[in-house]
Amino acid sequence: MSAATLQSLDMAVLLARFDAARGTIAGAIRTERRLSDLTGVFANEAAYRAACSAGNPLVYSVEAVEPGTGEGDLHYGLGVIYPGRVGREYFMTKGHLHSWREAAELYIGLSGQGIMLLEDEATGESRMLTLGPGCAVYVPGHTGHRTINVGDVPLSYMGVYPARAGHDYGIYASRNFRCTIVDDDGTPRMIGRDLISL
Ligand code: PA5
Ligand code: MN
Repeated sequence: MSAATLQSLDMAVLLARFDAARGTIAGAIRTERRLSDLTGVFANEAAYRAACSAGNPLVYSVEAVEPGTGEGDLHYGLGVIYPGRVGREYFMTKGHLHSWREAAELYIGLSGQGIMLLEDEATGESRMLTLGPGCAVYVPGHTGHRTINVGDVPLSYMGVYPARAGHDYGIYASRNFRCTIVDDDGTPRMIGRDLISL
């Protein structure tokens, strides 16, 4: 597949209008994840089940723009994570590796207060990085990544990645990330998932 060209793309793709607060991009592909779509993500299963029964809130949405699927093309997505908690953990994304493992991604914080949890696929080494206005987080290839809203207002951000990156949710669906971010008396802290007290 050859890459998109100036001639092949509509004006609306060349210049996309987005609304960071609403999480919308004209003409984009929208995905919504409610709490019930996040089975196995949160450590406190009783709190998770209770919150699913009590309204099953929207946790996050992503609107993605995919101008082409050729070598060299880029895709990007506008994510909004709503504020909320399940037990001591904050609302967060499912998290994934890229199917094409070499693919890196750049996350650009737009509004709100967030954290990105990165995990090296080979070593399991984990890092927590601030994501908010004025922050660009570089996610290297071979790195699992999950985004977390640690504030009281919606967190919005843009992620830009190679068109052929793909999303691989398999590993984290079966064993989750090694670490998680918990609210420790008002401060977000990264701890080993096996150390979490509910
Ligand atoms: O492509 C990306 O990395 C982002 O746009 C994510 O898809 C977004 O943050 C939602 O996360 P996830 O795909 O893990 O549900
Ligand atoms: Mn990604």
